[in-house]
Amino acid sequence: MPDSAAASRLDVEAVRQDFPILARPLPKGLPLVYLDSASSAQKPQAVIDKEIEVYENYYANAYRGVYRFGIQVDDGLELTRAKVRQLINADRSDEIIFTSGSTMALNTVAYGWARKHLQAGDEILLNELEHHANFVPWQQMAAQAGATCRMIPLTSDLRLDMERLDEVLTDRTKLVAVTAMSNVTGTITPIKALAQRAHQVGAVIVVDGAQSVPHQVTDVRDLDVDFLAFSGHKLFGPSGIGVLYGKHALLEAMDPFLYGGHMIERVTKDQSTWAPPPAKFEAGTAPIAQCVALSAAIDYVQGLGFEAIGNHERALTEYAHRRLLEVPGLRIYGPEPPHKGAIVSFTIEGAHPEDLAQLLDRRGVFVRHGHHCTMPLHDLMGVSATVRASFGVYTSQSDIDALCDAIDFARQKLRLV
Ligand code: ALA
Repeated sequence: MPDSAAASRLDVEAVRQDFPILARPLPKGLPLVYLDSASSAQKPQAVIDKEIEVYENYYANAYRGVYRFGIQVDDGLELTRAKVRQLINADRSDEIIFTSGSTMALNTVAYGWARKHLQAGDEILLNELEHHANFVPWQQMAAQAGATCRMIPLTSDLRLDMERLDEVLTDRTKLVAVTAMSNVTGTITPIKALAQRAHQVGAVIVVDGAQSVPHQVTDVRDLDVDFLAFSGHKLFGPSGIGVLYGKHALLEAMDPFLYGGHMIERVTKDQSTWAPPPAKFEAGTAPIAQCVALSAAIDYVQGLGFEAIGNHERALTEYAHRRLLEVPGLRIYGPEPPHKGAIVSFTIEGAHPEDLAQLLDRRGVFVRHGHHCTMPLHDLMGVSATVRASFGVYTSQSDIDALCDAIDFARQKLRLV
């Protein structure tokens, strides 16, 4: 179902009914307060049903059999590919590559594009907001090529400082790797402007959309990004399936990352040639049922509509900031809404994040703690760990109230009151 301006509000109680896990009480009748959607989102019944449908009715390997189950599976995968193309407004379906997740997608670009094209003296632009999956591969590729990684400066509220971009973006820049939404601060980055600036110096731009794609409209043609990675499991879909989008000409000029079945054109005992994209980057057996069920996840979010999702999550994030900042000693990292998505990372003076997360769990409140795979960012923030509450379409205002009540409980246990 397409987005509709009329559907600009979410009926959260109705949405919650779609997610069976949310109705499951914890021991002692505690309600589940799931605030870890940035880590992995819960699954609506439609996604669960779709995965079961494949296993119960027509499971077979993909792209191999001409028997009817094989063909049905192939059709299911291609339907998902077409839906992903439409979700992100790619020009062509063969620009959509199935991977195991964002990490695999980003490594496919690192090994396939950067290893081939980077040379000594080249520069890669990163920034300290990046998840390790969009940081470490570039460090490794830079080290192998004799290239250098440079950081786009951040503002004091942890946004990209676009006014200082010229300090680091030069004609030596060959690649800009940037998240569209930080998994810690929720910072939303100006992808379209960055893509324009990167292209002016002849660089490619690689966007980590793991956090942004489930929450906001993504239009790769309007943004003019060269590569985009995202994961199915954060988009209410199954784990083990993700997507790499790449502009067709770039994919054609790239080397495959994994070698094996399905990705070849011709193999002789002396040499091999590659199938065209996307098969060139899809060696081995796909995560079949997961990939088919990703289409149900896409239908689900599009049925809710990104306008309604955005309105809901912005209101929740504002409410969470307001309530959390009433807690003595609590510090939120990163920008204020509306410069951020539905992610709030914080510390409380005198409370270790791991202790806090464990105490919140005792009240049925599930949050993530630690460095969230962003050690450079935590170094910059001057803390080794934070607690992170992250929201999704099923998060309600009463979940935030429950978080605040659980924080009061934790502060008492930690003798902070
Ligand atoms: N990248 C996921 C997170 O931020 C796992 O939690």
